[in-house]
Amino acid sequence: MRVWPQKRWKQVLVVLVLVVVVLFVSFAAFAGLLMSGTLSREVVSEIEIINSEGNKNALVVYQPGFSSFPKDISYAFADGLASNGWRVEITTASTQTPSDVSKYKLIALAYPVYGGTVGTAIVSYIDRIGNFNGINTVGIACAGEDSGESIEPLMEKLQNANATFYDSLAVSNQNASAAIELAHQFASNLTP
Ligand SMILES: Cc1cc2nc3c(=O)[nH]c(=O)nc-3n(C[C@H](O)[C@H](O)[C@H](O)COP(=O)(O)O)c2cc1C
Repeated sequence: MRVWPQKRWKQVLVVLVLVVVVLFVSFAAFAGLLMSGTLSREVVSEIEIINSEGNKNALVVYQPGFSSFPKDISYAFADGLASNGWRVEITTASTQTPSDVSKYKLIALAYPVYGGTVGTAIVSYIDRIGNFNGINTVGIACAGEDSGESIEPLMEKLQNANATFYDSLAVSNQNASAAIELAHQFASNLTP
C-alpha cells in the first residue's frame, strides 16, 4: 500500500490534514494542562528570609515551573537584592502568601510563561492583594524564548491593582546560567 500519494493535490491535502491534526492535538494538550490546574502551580512554601539585617523590605513571590528555572531565577534575584542592602522575603504564590503587603518597599513577581501568558498563580496572588497602594513592583517572566510578551498584560494588571510598575525582566531558559547571572545583576542594581 502506497502511503504518500502521487498526485500533487493529494499531497497538499495530506500535508494540510497533518497540520490541522498537529495543531488540534497541541491545543487540546495545552487546554488539558490548563484545565487540570497543572499549569497554575499554586505551591505552598515557607517564607525564607535573606539578609535579615537589610534596611528595607522586599518580597519576592514566584510561581514554580516544571523545572527549577523559575525558582533559580527568583533566588538569584533575591540574592541580588540582598547584596544591595535589602532584607528579602521569598516564597511561592499561594493562598498562604502574605496579602497584607504594606511593609514592603518592593515586590517582585516571577513566573513561568505558558502560552505567552502571566503565570496563573501570580495572577491569583495579585487578585488576592487587590490594592498595592502604590508599592513598586517588578515582573520577572521566565520563558523558553526571550519572551517579553507576557510583560505588558502583567503591567496592566498591576497598574489596575494600584501598583507602581517599576521594572521588568524577561529571561530565557535556553541559557539558564546566563539568565541566572542576569537576574542577580539586575536586582543588585535596585537601590533600597
Ligand atoms: C505548556 C507550555 C507552554 C509554554 N509556552 C511558552 C510560550 O508561550 N512562550 C515561551 O517563550 N515559552 C513557553 N514555554 C516554555 C516555558 O516558558 C519554559 O520552559 C520556562 O522555563 C518555564 O519554566 P519550566 O520549564 O520550569 O516550566 C512553555 C512551556 C510549556 C510546558
